[in-house]
Amino acid sequence: MIGEKLVRVPIIGSTNDFLKENWKLFPHGAVVVADVQTSGRGRFNRTWYSPEGGLWFSILFKPRKNVRPNFYTKLCAVSIVRALKQLKVEAKLKWPNDVYVDGKKLAGILTETVFEEERLGAIIVGIGMNVNNEIPKELKDKATSLKLLVGEEFERLSVLSLILRKINKALRTYSRKSEALTRVWKNMLIQREGQLVCVNVNGERLKGEIVRIEDESITLRVQDKLMRLSSLEIVDC
Ligand code: BTN
Repeated sequence: MIGEKLVRVPIIGSTNDFLKENWKLFPHGAVVVADVQTSGRGRFNRTWYSPEGGLWFSILFKPRKNVRPNFYTKLCAVSIVRALKQLKVEAKLKWPNDVYVDGKKLAGILTETVFEEERLGAIIVGIGMNVNNEIPKELKDKATSLKLLVGEEFERLSVLSLILRKINKALRTYSRKSEALTRVWKNMLIQREGQLVCVNVNGERLKGEIVRIEDESITLRVQDKLMRLSSLEIVDC
């Protein structure tokens, strides 16, 4: 069961880095949660600000078959949205897996893999959620927290256990039905096929119509040319 082994640490560099280095010592489903991260990382190698009051944790998956890492990322994203709904917070996903409420980012997911002699050994899904922590002034337009949204403080470990319960339930439902998971995930996205969006791709900004959304790529029509992009970030136009 995910979260059956739960390690809580007051301070750590990054829970993802810790599990990447020590995955062999922990069972499948182990969770490491930290009060503070000193070197929290986000996607695109960005710094992930992780002060006290937030929920910073990583889950270790040791898949038996060669499951795609993305399956676990989507599973966690969908489970977070469902957990938030239970807390009366209506969240959506910004492609691929950022959790947004009212146009601001509440949580992010960073999935990393460890290979051993070309065999996928571990998938680590790191989740960062702003719960009671302060949002720095320079991020106030872009990020939010549960406390700001609901107007009260949350017990971080209760939020964690709610998310883990949703993940376990989703695992039971979707383990052999990854297409069904993809459908649920797609329905939670802010982005829709046919929408006009702006994206950053390797430092270049493009504007185009979304022709197709997949879990690891988006196909855009840019001036009549179709471009299937995978390492992209959707930005404000
Ligand atoms: C993103 O949106 O860019 C992903 C952010 C992921 C942050 C979490 S916090 C716990 C885990 N440890 C890390 O260093 N990063 C992830």
